[in-house]
Amino acid sequence: MDSSQRHYHITTFGCQMNKADSERMAGILEDMGFIWSENPNDADLILYNTCTIRDNAEQKVYSYLGRQAKRKHQNPNLTLVVAGCVAQQEGQQILRRVPELDLVMGPQHANRLEDLLQQVFDGNQVVATEPIHIVEDITKPRRDSTITAWVNVIYGCNERCSYCVVPNVRGVEQSRTPEAILKEMEVLGQQGYKEVTLLGQNIDAYGRDLPGVTETGRHQHTLTDLLYTVHDVSGVERIRFATSHPRYFTERLIVACQELSKVCEHFHIPFQSGDNDILKAMKRGYTHEKYRQIIAKIRDYMPDASISADAIVGFPGETEEQFENTLKLVADIGFDQLNTAAYSPRPGTPAAMWENQLSEEVKSDRLQRLNHLVAQKAAERSQRYLGRIEEVLVEDLNPKDNTQVMGRTRGNRLTFLKGDVNQLRGQIVQVKITEVRAFSLTGELV
Ligand code: SAH
Ligand code: SF4
Ligand code: F3S
Repeated sequence: MDSSQRHYHITTFGCQMNKADSERMAGILEDMGFIWSENPNDADLILYNTCTIRDNAEQKVYSYLGRQAKRKHQNPNLTLVVAGCVAQQEGQQILRRVPELDLVMGPQHANRLEDLLQQVFDGNQVVATEPIHIVEDITKPRRDSTITAWVNVIYGCNERCSYCVVPNVRGVEQSRTPEAILKEMEVLGQQGYKEVTLLGQNIDAYGRDLPGVTETGRHQHTLTDLLYTVHDVSGVERIRFATSHPRYFTERLIVACQELSKVCEHFHIPFQSGDNDILKAMKRGYTHEKYRQIIAKIRDYMPDASISADAIVGFPGETEEQFENTLKLVADIGFDQLNTAAYSPRPGTPAAMWENQLSEEVKSDRLQRLNHLVAQKAAERSQRYLGRIEEVLVEDLNPKDNTQVMGRTRGNRLTFLKGDVNQLRGQIVQVKITEVRAFSLTGELV
């Protein structure tokens, strides 16, 4: 390793938004002349991009930080950065816990990394957590994949789900313009990217904050309009989007997904609970009946669409019967995949202050029961693929078997097949499915 070169390492926790932010921050660092180091212990600059969605995510960050803070005592030239949602939540306070930090920066400041580091190199300890208007990307992200890419379309969230820290840490909704999104996608297409996932915490809110209304009074720039705008970008063969909110999900969007051939038949629509009183306490703004109608409508138009979601068990006051309503919804819908979590009280959220918190035992028992059902249902859903020919975009080598490559179906099922990665990477191939498991498939090239 050339010691005159400065090396950096980024560890990313949390959701796709954080991963996308990390790729942009890595791009900025490389523009500044930093070189990626796989091993954090060889790096001169370490950046933790953090998540605070549940307590265990937050605690993980502190244990990583503690280790690097010690290293800084031996190597005062080490630059330590905490970015992301824990940084935003804790602000100045984090310095009391880890005084060795050089820079604490909230997610809205990701694109300002170079400016902020300049202040650090001038000898300051910097905290950047004030709300700002997010500046457009000035640098090329350093993307982890050469095949699939994320494109932010809306930052922040204006919902106030009573359990959730995201609005506190990500700020108010800020949509990018359709022009900026289209331009980024055109560049991706030229660079050989085959799949783009459009990102937003509540992607159905896209465009609400942009100027312009139609004659019928709806916003001119909706997610549906955006899909039509970006659909024909050449080179990009697949388009996905996440995360959808049942409150704002429209039939118009479903029709667009059916009509537009590049938009994959996969919908990620968190329901959180199958019980109406819990949904109300969560401030989700829909009922389980409404949720079921949305899924039924999707299946009317696209019978084979794959459906995934997020759910929380053990929300304050949740009774056994209310929990069983969640089980019932999961059994009835048959999700292809479900991210489940035990409720975790978060600082600054209403539900954390309520007195009707459930014990850890009840929460983990419910989580296990739900996970068991999810695996069973996902295995049933996988059965429909057996013997079928599926379109797979090959992304990489199977890390567990180097005679195989892996990719995803349009429905987002991870699929393995025999083949040479150098020939197949980035190719969309037809695969006959010969083996199915709950969350993955195996097949052969046809
Ligand atoms: N914007 C998305 C999800 C954002 S957070 C939505 O509206 O659904 C990702 C997931 O984390 C949520 O869907 C929820 O299931 C889970 N989550 C959020 N806050 C939580 C908390 N306090 N405890 C447990 N899980 C939580
Ligand atoms: Fe959190 Fe609700 Fe916003 Fe999703 S919609 S990020 S759960 S506040
Ligand atoms: Fe975590 Fe922040 Fe995403 S809290 S889930 S990294 S928005």
